[in-house]
Amino acid sequence: MKNIAILCSGGDVSGMNPAIKHFVEYSIQKGLNPYFVYDGYEGLIDNRIKKATYEDVAGIITRGGTKIGSARSKRFMQPEFRKIAKENLDTHNIDMLVVLGGDGSFRGLDAFYKEQGIKFCGIPSTIDNDIHGTDYCLGVDTALNIIKTSIDAIRDTASSFKRALVIETMGRDCGYLALISALTSGAELCLIPERKYNLHDFEENFKTQIKNGRRYFIAVISEGIEQSATEIATWFEEKIGIEARATVLGHVQRGGNPSIYDRLMAYKFISFAIDGLLEGHNDSVACYTKSHFKYKSIFEVTGTPHKLDKELLALLDNMDV
Ligand code: F6P
Repeated sequence: MKNIAILCSGGDVSGMNPAIKHFVEYSIQKGLNPYFVYDGYEGLIDNRIKKATYEDVAGIITRGGTKIGSARSKRFMQPEFRKIAKENLDTHNIDMLVVLGGDGSFRGLDAFYKEQGIKFCGIPSTIDNDIHGTDYCLGVDTALNIIKTSIDAIRDTASSFKRALVIETMGRDCGYLALISALTSGAELCLIPERKYNLHDFEENFKTQIKNGRRYFIAVISEGIEQSATEIATWFEEKIGIEARATVLGHVQRGGNPSIYDRLMAYKFISFAIDGLLEGHNDSVACYTKSHFKYKSIFEVTGTPHKLDKELLALLDNMDV
């Protein structure tokens, strides 16, 4: 029987636990021995590798985060530690690896494959949804639902007080979370790194809206823009003349009970990744584009900068303000 391992790298996402559960069950179904690598590439270097059983994954489908831990490993960026990582995998006779992670995690994996020849399949997993070659990354739907619930709650208090509420989402340099949230929560303002803006351009319109009866504003901004949520709130107070508050959602966006969509995508991503490894796709990322799964070369995925979908950006440009 062949041995296959799974690890999580980079920011955790809700959907990793359902993926880990299906990894164990599907591996056994396919006649493979499943292994866990704890704490990402750090655990690979320190030989925290353990055979996995059904018992290990019982009850984890409802939990956010990852049962096997994750890490951002600086050591794995260095060839000498990648060599140790390979030796540890060899000790357990593991020659196939499934990696749940983001762009940075895949770059390390690419180097690992080129130097050490380990067969792998990457599964895009980041709430930022910023990986080239895939429309969807595991965890995004749960994060969007958490943001939606938060904005809905914030709207209640914004409307009660005649206030502008500025809500900052995560996303690093990508505005996907903020844009989708703004469009689906009826926000009046959305600021993301992909679009240059000048707050002055909104002033006349917003003041007119207040004169015409608007009681409150919801602004959704991405953490990657140059100004902070507090600065945008100050602008509302000073230039628009409405009391304002800022909310930085932070890490609540990464946790929580995985949504149905993320549970289903976790299931599909894992089956696709393991099938691919068994069919001889040795150095690919499982990508989901235009409602289909595809194996894409890690070189293509990590070698091309991510760009936000043009159609989505067009929706932002046409936002009714
Ligand atoms: O990449 C996921 C992400 O949550 C980003 O949106 C955010 O900028 C970053 O990770 C936060 O990282 P950390 O959890 O290390 O503070």
